[in-house]
Amino acid sequence: MRLLVCGGAGFIGSNFVRLRLRCSDDEIVVLDKLTYAGRRENFHDFASDARFSFHHGAIEDPAAVEAALDGVEAIVNFAAESHVDRSIDEPDAFVRTAAQGTYVLLEAARRRGLRYLQVSTDEVYGSIAEGSFTESSPLDPSSPYSATKAGADLLVSSYQQTYGLDTVICRGSNNYGAYQYPEKLIPLMVLNALAGDRLPVYGDGLQVRNWLFVEDFAAAIALVLERGTRGEAYNVGGPDECTNLTVVRRILSLCGRDESLLDYVTDRPGHDRRYSLGSEKVRALGWSAQTRFEEGVERTVAWYRENAWWWEPIRSGAYRDYYRRQYGTALG
Ligand code: NAD
Ligand code: DAU
Repeated sequence: MRLLVCGGAGFIGSNFVRLRLRCSDDEIVVLDKLTYAGRRENFHDFASDARFSFHHGAIEDPAAVEAALDGVEAIVNFAAESHVDRSIDEPDAFVRTAAQGTYVLLEAARRRGLRYLQVSTDEVYGSIAEGSFTESSPLDPSSPYSATKAGADLLVSSYQQTYGLDTVICRGSNNYGAYQYPEKLIPLMVLNALAGDRLPVYGDGLQVRNWLFVEDFAAAIALVLERGTRGEAYNVGGPDECTNLTVVRRILSLCGRDESLLDYVTDRPGHDRRYSLGSEKVRALGWSAQTRFEEGVERTVAWYRENAWWWEPIRSGAYRDYYRRQYGTALG
């Protein structure tokens, strides 16, 4: 199959492309705006594959989308502004990409009669104190990030209901693994621990996340693309839930550091306390998570240790200004 993968230069998108090139005969066209989070470095090991091609452009630009669609049979949309803290400071790009961008892609899919997969998040359901969300739980997002993701999901569903477009939605829990930009909890803490910088824990650090190894999410997306029922949403939750403090302590230990590096900082506004997804629907398609958190976090720390070429240009560039603005302190 020839796929248009939007946002394929980011963390999950590039892991998905790598998986498809390795495990299928797919031809992959990536369309990506190359924001701070989208990097050609993420293609380093498959850039020369004859089944891979790259278009630089935004999903909200109809001409850029049209130019990438030649021969395409399905669209997989990862493209989004993805960081909650940035959405609190500057929501405008989140609205543009999620609303206008998703709309432009849906129109393109409608014109050509293409299958359309929207990559979404557990955050659209909001926080849950006990139990787990199912696909029929109400959407109740808390941040500009999650609200714009929920809006995009609703627009996708409307195209299915109104125009009969062949759509599916995958809602993943917190991903981690190789190639994740170090603004997110796990890579940020790994790089700070390796460098001996302080580890900023929001509030009491007892918020709970449902950790999903990125290769497991990529496999679920591939499966839903192939076998998912038209018009349905599928939750994809990780096998382990744990508090942020548990995660950070494990990283300290894997990096050979002690708790003196912990720094309790002001909490995130509107911070969701706990996410938890029930994933029975995607399991019924044949998916299960292959990587438990203990193994996945060890592999992730090892990857960051061994791939300084990937993160050093980030950590020594504009990211330092972002970090100072976000945390009120400089990296060492
Ligand atoms: P990321 O920030 O690493 O990558 C996003 C990619 O989208 C980047 O390559 C960026 O350049 C591109 N992009 C952004 N705006 C664009 C636009 N207007 N046009 C074209 N490209 C654009 O994000 P990620 O963590 O890989 O997340 C990918 C998707 O998965 C997002 O839709 C996100 O909401 C969703 N998701 C993420 C997680 C997670 O834990 N990271 C979990 C569940 C769902
Ligand atoms: O749940 C899926 C979502 O997971 C995705 O949709 C988002 O794209 C992705 O960014 C992620 O959102 P979170 O807000 O859960 O992830 P983040 O890595 O930003 O934070 C994870 C937890 O760690 C959260 O409770 C906030 C906390 N945290 C985060 C950072 C960056 C800290 O305590 N300190 C930090 O410095």
